Amino acid sequence: MTPITLVINGKPVSANIEPRTHLADFLREGRDLTGTHLGCEHGVCGACTILVDGIPVRSCITYAVSCDGAEVVTIEGLDEDEITRELREAFKREHALQCGYCTPGMLVSARDLVMRSRNADEREIRVAMSGNLCRCTGYVGIIRAIRSVIAARRDRDIAAIVGGVRRTVGPAGSGHPSTQGRELSVRRAVPSPLTERAAAAQSKLPIDRDWSPQVVFDQKFVVNYPPQQVWEMFGRVRDVAACLPGTSLIGEPTPERVEGQIQVKIGPITAEFRGQAEIERDESSYSGKIRGVGSAIRSNSVTRGMISYHLLPGPDRQSTEVALTIGYTLTGLLAQFGRPSIVQGVAARMTAAFANNLEARLGGEPVASPSLGAEGAINAGSLLSSVVAGRFRQLFSRIVHWRN
Ligand code: FES
Ligand code: FES
Repeated sequence: MTPITLVINGKPVSANIEPRTHLADFLREGRDLTGTHLGCEHGVCGACTILVDGIPVRSCITYAVSCDGAEVVTIEGLDEDEITRELREAFKREHALQCGYCTPGMLVSARDLVMRSRNADEREIRVAMSGNLCRCTGYVGIIRAIRSVIAARRDRDIAAIVGGVRRTVGPAGSGHPSTQGRELSVRRAVPSPLTERAAAAQSKLPIDRDWSPQVVFDQKFVVNYPPQQVWEMFGRVRDVAACLPGTSLIGEPTPERVEGQIQVKIGPITAEFRGQAEIERDESSYSGKIRGVGSAIRSNSVTRGMISYHLLPGPDRQSTEVALTIGYTLTGLLAQFGRPSIVQGVAARMTAAFANNLEARLGGEPVASPSLGAEGAINAGSLLSSVVAGRFRQLFSRIVHWRN
C-alpha cells in the first residue's frame, strides 16, 4: 500500500492505496464520488474525464498514486462553478443528453473549452470534444449547447483564459501548481513528499564521464576584455551563473562542482531543469569543460550536456574570442522541442545574451536580462520566434538569390 495525500473537491484527503488503483476507482469506491462514470476503461470514451490540477484527464488510465499532492475536481466539485452551471442549463435547453452516462465527462471537457476559447466555431468544438463519446443522444444538441454558452459569454465580454490553467509541461498531476488565478475554490495541496523525493533523486542523477552526446555544435563570441580577465571570471561560478538568464544555484558551488536549476519558458508553459555539473579547467591552455545532467521532473525529461570552452586572444590582445563546443542528449517529453536545428538556434541566442551579460559584468555594470520571461525564466518562446524569423529570412534570401 502507498500513502497519498491530495485535495479532492476542496477537501484534503489522505489514504493508503494499492499502486495499481486507478483514479476513477479510488474516487468512486474509496470516496463515493460516483458522478465520475466508467465506460470503456481504456481512455477512449471520455466518460471518466475529471480535472487534475485544473486539466481534464481520463481518470480510468490515471493511477491514483501519480496524483499524490494534486488537486482533483470531479463533477460533484463543479456544482457551484459558473461555466458548468451555464453548460448544464444549455445541455437541458438543447436536449444534449438522454441517458446522461456521458454527461459528466462531456461537461468537464466542454468547460475546459469554454474557458479557453472565446470564438470556437462548430468545427473547433467538434474537434475539442472528439475525445468524448455519446452513445445515445448524438452530437448536434451537445455542440449547439456548447456553442450557445461560448456566444453568451462573448456577448457578456468575458475574456478567455489562453491555455486554460496549463502552466507546466508534463502529465497532469505531476506539477501541483499554485491555484492562483483559478476559478475553482480548491485549496492548495500540501507539498507532495513523493514528488519532492523524486525531484531530489532525479537531481542527483550520476554524471556519466563516458557518455557521448547525440548532438554536438559550435558557438563563438567575442568579449572586449583580455583573456586573463575572462579566465578569472570563468572561475567564479556564481558570477558565470548570474550571466545566464533563468539560472539559479542550489547551495554553495565549489570550483569543481555546482548544483542548480534553470527555467525555460515556452509560450504558456514553463520547464524547470534541476541538476548538477562537474567543472574542469586547464589554465595552461585557457580551456575548460563542464559536464552536467539535469531533469525536468514534471515532464519526466532528462538532459545530459557538455560545454567545452577555449579562450583565444583577439587580434589586439585586449579582446577574447570564446570558442564553445556544446553537446547534449535530451530524452523524455521535452525531446519534442529538442530538434537540433531548434536547439542550435535557441543556443545561439542564449549565447548572445550570455556574452552581453558577461561583458557587462566584466565592466562592473548591472547585468541586463533581455530574454527573461515574466517569472524569471529564459523565454524560449521569444527566442524560438526569432529563430523562426531567422529561418524565414534565410529562406527568402535563398529564393531571391536563386531567382537572380
Ligand atoms: Fe475512461 Fe472511457 S472510461 S475513457
Ligand atoms: Fe447517453 Fe450520452 S447521453 S451516452
